[in-house]
Amino acid sequence: MSWMTVCDYHVLLPERGACALVDGEQVAVFRTFEGQVYAIGNLDPFSGAYVLSRGIVGTRGGEPTVASPLHKQVFSLVTGACLDDPGVRVPTYPARVVDGRVEVAAGAAIVEAAGERRLVDAS
Ligand code: FES
Repeated sequence: MSWMTVCDYHVLLPERGACALVDGEQVAVFRTFEGQVYAIGNLDPFSGAYVLSRGIVGTRGGEPTVASPLHKQVFSLVTGACLDDPGVRVPTYPARVVDGRVEVAAGAAIVEAAGERRLVDAS
């Protein structure tokens, strides 16, 4: 697994997503009001459009979320699970801030299956 710099932390505005290409995958990157960064797949599985980075950030039950700008389904930024449809999930990627820059792990995705989260390293 390798970390890829996506952008400067200060240009990632709170609750406004950004889209990045990480290892050939479109990734939606978010910064919450609390300053935490999250990365999930940008593809909205309901519409088939790459729009989740333009979604509306919020919380549900204390969990940071994004609502698709198209059909408003809500996804957890932590697990990628669709909170409106338990059978649907988007990939999540490890994200961190180092020296004022946002980094997302390339070649890896956190996959949740059978209630267990694990890091899948494709590299
Ligand atoms: S400033 Fe353009 S992607 Fe970070």
